[in-house]
Amino acid sequence: MLAAKVALEMGEKARVLLADQGVLARGMEFKAAKDSLLLPVVSRKFKLPFAFKMVSASFKASSKPLPLKELLARAGFSKKQLETLISSFDSIGDIAIIQIPDELLAKKKTIAKALMESNPRFKVVARQTGGLEGEYRTTPLEIIAGEKRTETIYRESGCSFRLDVSKVFFSPRLSFERERIAGLVKPGEKVLALFAGVGPYPIVIAKKQPKAKVAAIELNPDAVKYMRANAAANKVLVEIIEGDVKKTAPAKFRGWADRITMPLPHTGEDFLDAALAAAAKGCIIHFYCFGPVRDEKTRKPLDPAAPAAEKVKAACARNKRNCKILFKRVVRPYAPYVVQSVVDFKVLN
Ligand SMILES: C[S@@+](CC[C@H](N)C(=O)[O-])C[C@H]1O[C@@H](n2cnc3c(N)ncnc32)[C@H](O)[C@@H]1O
Repeated sequence: MLAAKVALEMGEKARVLLADQGVLARGMEFKAAKDSLLLPVVSRKFKLPFAFKMVSASFKASSKPLPLKELLARAGFSKKQLETLISSFDSIGDIAIIQIPDELLAKKKTIAKALMESNPRFKVVARQTGGLEGEYRTTPLEIIAGEKRTETIYRESGCSFRLDVSKVFFSPRLSFERERIAGLVKPGEKVLALFAGVGPYPIVIAKKQPKAKVAAIELNPDAVKYMRANAAANKVLVEIIEGDVKKTAPAKFRGWADRITMPLPHTGEDFLDAALAAAAKGCIIHFYCFGPVRDEKTRKPLDPAAPAAEKVKAACARNKRNCKILFKRVVRPYAPYVVQSVVDFKVLN
């Protein structure tokens, strides 16, 4: 077939320019020689701003799957349709969770099949049909391709988590946070994981620091069922309590914890009093909260962790606890100009 022969160092530039002009033949492996690269093309009608030769060559079919948007372009999606499709999606184990804009809903099955073709590790594609719901923060889902199931196994930091993505909240995006906090825990520390879900915080912590005493509180009975099974499967000891943090933390853990995790960014501030009741002197609390990155009117940049820090200070004053903010950082983007931050603070008295 036809090929453009370019100097090896111009290969990437040529690939981009040929693709932009729509002449690069897809699904073929490029051929490299000592100092040149052969790129398969479907036409002679293109321009390159550097020296090249037209030659004829044979190419092997590439074993790499094509990217999602490339597959959809081949399926006849217009440029505008491709632009409206969010190319990022969540993946939990072998399940992909995708948001599809209303104008593309009629093509949801084609999109889901292309997603599975471009990412062969996915066995299920589910569409998010609305925002996170209720106290359990679950995601409303519709399966649109693959196997008809919502249970999967997700792996992180040497631990595995079985969970049903339709019955419990789970975010792989907080894996760095869990690893960071687990790395701070010292032998003998008492760690209280609030809003523990299927157990990623307490289990990663208990795995990394087996000499810590780890307890977890979670309201959603399905999440608790999975957390118990996950603790056993990962061979870690976690005291798991099904209950409301507001009642359970002060009643069962008053003054007990050396460290507390609070991953409930929407309404976490309502639980700061309960967390402070469970905090021993010197306890470090990891508090998550949303905050804007800029002022809506003036567009001037803002410290997105400032709302979290204010809530922490107000709660400590209310509970006559002195606190010191040790660390803060942005954890993940959440909405346009809004991010999730974490504030680590120490309870001094
Ligand atoms: C944002 S999720 C975090 C889950 C988990 N820590 C993770 O990172 O995947 C919040 C969790 O808090 C639980 N939850 C909400 N309100 C609660 C309450 N009052 N007491 C205990 N758990 C609660 C929800 O069921 C949900 O599992």
